[in-house]
Amino acid sequence: MKLGVNIDHVAVLREARRVNDPDILNALWVACQSGADQITIHLREDRRHIQDVDAYNIMKHSTLPVNLECSINRDILNIVTELKPHRATLVPEKREEVTTEGGLDLFGYEDEIAYAIEFLHDYIIPVSLFIDPTIEAVEKSKELGAEMVELHTGTFANIFAMLNSSLSHSNHSIKELELSRNELSIRLEKSITDITTTAKHAKKIGLEVAAGHGLNYHNVYEMMKIAEITELNIGQSIVARSVFSGLTDAIKEMKRLTSR
Ligand code: PXP
Repeated sequence: MKLGVNIDHVAVLREARRVNDPDILNALWVACQSGADQITIHLREDRRHIQDVDAYNIMKHSTLPVNLECSINRDILNIVTELKPHRATLVPEKREEVTTEGGLDLFGYEDEIAYAIEFLHDYIIPVSLFIDPTIEAVEKSKELGAEMVELHTGTFANIFAMLNSSLSHSNHSIKELELSRNELSIRLEKSITDITTTAKHAKKIGLEVAAGHGLNYHNVYEMMKIAEITELNIGQSIVARSVFSGLTDAIKEMKRLTSR
């Protein structure tokens, strides 16, 4: 299993004060030394965390492959082609969201996504699509020409957190909280089945399979059971733990949990 460490949240902390502290390049250096297999960053249109200069510096100094998440916005795609990351992961973006809330709408934005994939391929940049775990989305990803899919694990992670609510402060409504544990267990099983069957199908039709969003030290073992998933991209939980244990230990522990 490849561990992609998403260091966006180090830049979130820095942007809170707009001083170069913590330095994203220190985070890069620590991640490269601590067992990460890949660096993942998201250059958002609103530049709320990673700035263009961060992306350039990370590309310049990373000793690990860089997986650059981005939207299908043309200005962003132009920057991506200049940066030439090892892979671009296309994600949906909304200004008002706290974080990426779901997979790409492959059917609603089919032409735009097809264009983005072709454009990136012209610059020899492999493309992964961040999708909801459904067979239709996997089929469409293949048809659109992606090499890889990253399955959105947010639904799984949210239900897992609800079932183990003392472990997490995820945002869920009172109504959801009132669902019986039985109902939550059924929903959790379904979310895992969705990810598993989608991952198997993706591999079967020749796509590489990653997963990410909301994965943490408590829930990641469920993803480790799915042999077709060969990469996990994890940010929030690693950076959150690093506040208490340091980034080196936080990454090493996640690497230990995600080693097969
Ligand atoms: N993968 C993708 C495509 C994402 O957009 C994100 C969030 O930036 C992650 C993985 C990491 O999610 P988290 O920060 O919840 O671990």
